[in-house]
Amino acid sequence: MLPGIIVLIAVLLVLVVLHVLDDAMRTMQERLGLPVAGGMKWGKRVTWVLLVLALGQFFVPDGLFAPAPPIVEPLPQIAIYTSDGLWSGADTARLTFLDDELESRIRYGRELIARTAVYLGPNGSVAHLTNGLNCQNCHLDAGTKPWGNNYGAVWSTYPKVRSRSGKLESVEKRVNDCMERSLNGVALDSMSKEMRAIVAYMEWLGTGVAKDSIPKGTGIEKLAFLDRAADPTRGHEVFNVKCVSCHGPQGEGMLSTDGATYQYPPLWGDHSYNQGAGLYRLSRFAGYVKANMPQGAAYDHPQLTDEEAWDVAAFVNSQPRPAKDLTGDWPDISKKPIDHPFGPYSDTFTEKQHKYGPFGPIAEARQKK
Ligand code: HEC
Ligand code: HEC
Repeated sequence: MLPGIIVLIAVLLVLVVLHVLDDAMRTMQERLGLPVAGGMKWGKRVTWVLLVLALGQFFVPDGLFAPAPPIVEPLPQIAIYTSDGLWSGADTARLTFLDDELESRIRYGRELIARTAVYLGPNGSVAHLTNGLNCQNCHLDAGTKPWGNNYGAVWSTYPKVRSRSGKLESVEKRVNDCMERSLNGVALDSMSKEMRAIVAYMEWLGTGVAKDSIPKGTGIEKLAFLDRAADPTRGHEVFNVKCVSCHGPQGEGMLSTDGATYQYPPLWGDHSYNQGAGLYRLSRFAGYVKANMPQGAAYDHPQLTDEEAWDVAAFVNSQPRPAKDLTGDWPDISKKPIDHPFGPYSDTFTEKQHKYGPFGPIAEARQKK
């Protein structure tokens, strides 16, 4: 606007000057008796045209002459892999290339995974639905750590039929399974802002992972079975040496100084996962701790042997924890995982063997069927 006004004033000034000059020339020529030349005529005409143009600029719609904004191609939201080909999440820096609303929804989803208790815990700011654990306590690095129980295959494999429920399960249903079991809490409304954010985060994490594929390094590592039963007594020793310093002698964990989330989450007792949770199965617990515990361990530098992992799993999962009504689970009992610790079973092995092993004979019997 301002430059336009300056141009207009300049043109007006030139016009005035030309008029004055022209009049002066005429008067001088007349006095001297010279023929009057139309010398300034063209100059004045051009200036009038400029004046009209200068005025016209105020009626031109905004942006007609502005350069078109450069087209920013969004960077593809692709998955990242470790040097040995394990899925390890997606680069959050790329979120800025998404539209603002989607970006903030995904970021909120990630935040809910990382600091669940702040929003949904016993003193949560949104609702009080869970036992105080964060999803991230078990799904490390917001569900992106290789063999850290990550979410690499969630978007590519759901919805899928799961034998635990015998039904086709959506991502929402699976998230709520962990809400009700691992966080011993209450399901989120599937249309709530929180569930929409978690699902958006899962979808974003899954971009670049082909439908139905399960990238290497997703979920929990499968350890080889021991040829004996896992031993809670030996596991107690492992616990005393390698776990107690953080998780506490009663497995009670320790709250952070902010009092909202755990610095060290509980492993058993009232505030831990319940008997229907995935970690209550020995193979899940052993595979999780082998690649991730004590804190700082990773699949490529574990700090436990397989034996220690199985034994400490047996110890922790023989301690008290909340119960859960599991009567609706495993409608087809022949589909129960071999380490599901509650009968009835479609084979003749005892509950005790299904809980602690040895698992080899159960697996063999199943294969023969
Ligand atoms: C106490 C540990 C624990 C906590 C806390 C936890 N989960 Fe899980 N979650 C598991 C285990 C164990 C599995 C099953 C892994 C397996 O069987 O390989 C699982 C599986 C899942 C899956 C399915 C993964 C797949 O590839 O099929 C999703 C989705 C999921 N959890 C979401 C969540 C969300 C969201 C939260 C927080 C609201 C949460 N979990 C909290 C332990 C936990
Ligand atoms: C140096 C501290 C430290 C030690 C030692 C440690 N942990 Fe953990 N553990 C953690 C932290 C921290 C988390 C949560 C991780 C996160 O949120 O990123 C965790 C999470 C867990 C979880 C999943 C969440 C839950 O509470 O159920 C299990 C299971 C677990 N640890 C088992 C063990 C076992 C078994 C040992 C010993 C072999 C062990 N930890 C040793 C710090 C430790």
